[in-house]
Amino acid sequence: MNKNFYITTPIYYPSGKPHMGHAYSSIIADIFARFKRIEGFNVLFLTGTDEHGQKIQKEALKNHKDPKQFCDEISETFRSLTKTLNLTNNDFIRTTESRHFKSVNEIWNRLIKSGDIYLDKYSGWYSVSDEAYYDEDEIEEKNGKKISKVSGSPVEWVEEESYFFKLSECQKKLLDHYKNNKDFILPISRRNEVISFVEKGLKDLSISRTSFSWGIPVPGNKKHVIYVWLDALTNYLSAINFPDTNDEKYKSFWPADVHIIGKDILRFHAIYWPAFLIAAKLPLPKRIYGHGWILSDAKKMSKSLGNILDPIKIIKEYGIDQLRYYLTKEVSLGNDGSISMENLKNCINNDLANNYGNLCQRVFSFIKKNCNNKIPKKNKLNESDIKLIENIKNNLPKLIDYINNQNLNEYIKMVVNFSFEANKYFNDSEPWALKTKNPERMNDILYTISEQIKNISILLNPIIPVSTKKVLNTINLSDNDISIDNIKKDNIFDYNLELKNLDILFKKIENDN
Ligand code: MSP
Repeated sequence: MNKNFYITTPIYYPSGKPHMGHAYSSIIADIFARFKRIEGFNVLFLTGTDEHGQKIQKEALKNHKDPKQFCDEISETFRSLTKTLNLTNNDFIRTTESRHFKSVNEIWNRLIKSGDIYLDKYSGWYSVSDEAYYDEDEIEEKNGKKISKVSGSPVEWVEEESYFFKLSECQKKLLDHYKNNKDFILPISRRNEVISFVEKGLKDLSISRTSFSWGIPVPGNKKHVIYVWLDALTNYLSAINFPDTNDEKYKSFWPADVHIIGKDILRFHAIYWPAFLIAAKLPLPKRIYGHGWILSDAKKMSKSLGNILDPIKIIKEYGIDQLRYYLTKEVSLGNDGSISMENLKNCINNDLANNYGNLCQRVFSFIKKNCNNKIPKKNKLNESDIKLIENIKNNLPKLIDYINNQNLNEYIKMVVNFSFEANKYFNDSEPWALKTKNPERMNDILYTISEQIKNISILLNPIIPVSTKKVLNTINLSDNDISIDNIKKDNIFDYNLELKNLDILFKKIENDN
């Protein structure tokens, strides 16, 4: 079995400060990366910044900066966000790096060699903020301005010499690929969207620009720079040492297992990217997962509405695990989801503090008070103890399947339910009434509930890594012990060691009013 796993986030435009939408894509990808690691996979998790194109050049100019200097500064804020979000990315790629130039050049040359590129003239609509071409029927007029119906972004008329990629010839190959690989595009709703778009027919795609210079020059014709999306998509290969297809990294990690993206960039990933790869005679990634949008108080975040949520501010106020948990639990991954500070507070209080936090805290303080602060050995577990423990183990294949299908909401729902059940078991078993009456039974209850805490903490670890590590450290488990295999095993506690102190895991948030 191939034990390598390659997952990517979109690479972000360093055109402004990172916002919650960027944080969302990254956190989601990190959760999958972490899960696959504890499942025993060798994971490569890539993120980075997409630094070329007209949008960045314009923004740099507006700020009176040279584009490279501008990118250096903003890219750094994205790099530092990876730390704030507690991401476990193994690499951070910038499209201004030489490794990336090499790989984009090779892709271009392969497309030339396969006869898929020709020189002509482009005239049509272009949106600088989306870095996308739009057809006439995708344009509408609003307040006297032409905008894209697809994204709502302003468009401008462009006429310039351009190289074209023969996308029109890819229709059948793409449709066949979608048909033969049912989960190439997920969720299903997005797959259907792409299929109906491709079924309508594809036009050749302009893949170079001449009206500005901030990009990778077309090999052999320096008047042109390569279209920023052809440039950007190739980052997924640059990071694994393409064009050296004999390189270990390339051989281990290509094709990528999943590109996590937002639904706004589905067309580029699910149509253009596989078409380029087919033409370049390279294998296609196994999956494109397009998540929904994060809405701020039910509206799309935008500078003009002033409702942009700053992840750094929220993390400072509430904590990174709290934010990661909230986004996983309360936003349906495949759909748009509204978030608000009110809901975040409720989620921290009701779910994290009252459920998982409370479970760990009350059990450990009980053990401290009544068992010399040591997890007791089991005597003879009864049916209800075994049922509780087995429930998690029996559901492991289902949980792994949820993750493998990016069904994060079902995953967390099930794990949260384990935590509810564990709390209920503890209440119903009343170990406090057994201390003198039946200490052996009390020990079995404490053994069982500690086993549950261990297993629930391992399962929650990819989502709330900081808090679960604290809990697992309390029972003397180290980072290396955090593995799905250790859910399958009993008796991994060291019964002789004293439990370490566990500080409050999740402070309850008081309401302002
Ligand atoms: N540079 C391109 C991606 C190239 S990938 C080869 C790009 N960059 S971006 O910075 O504009 O946005 C990157 C991603 O951020 C989006 O695809 C999406 O995943 C995420 N989001 C940005 N705003 C978002 C929300 N409001 N909600 C959720 N995610 C959204 O596109």
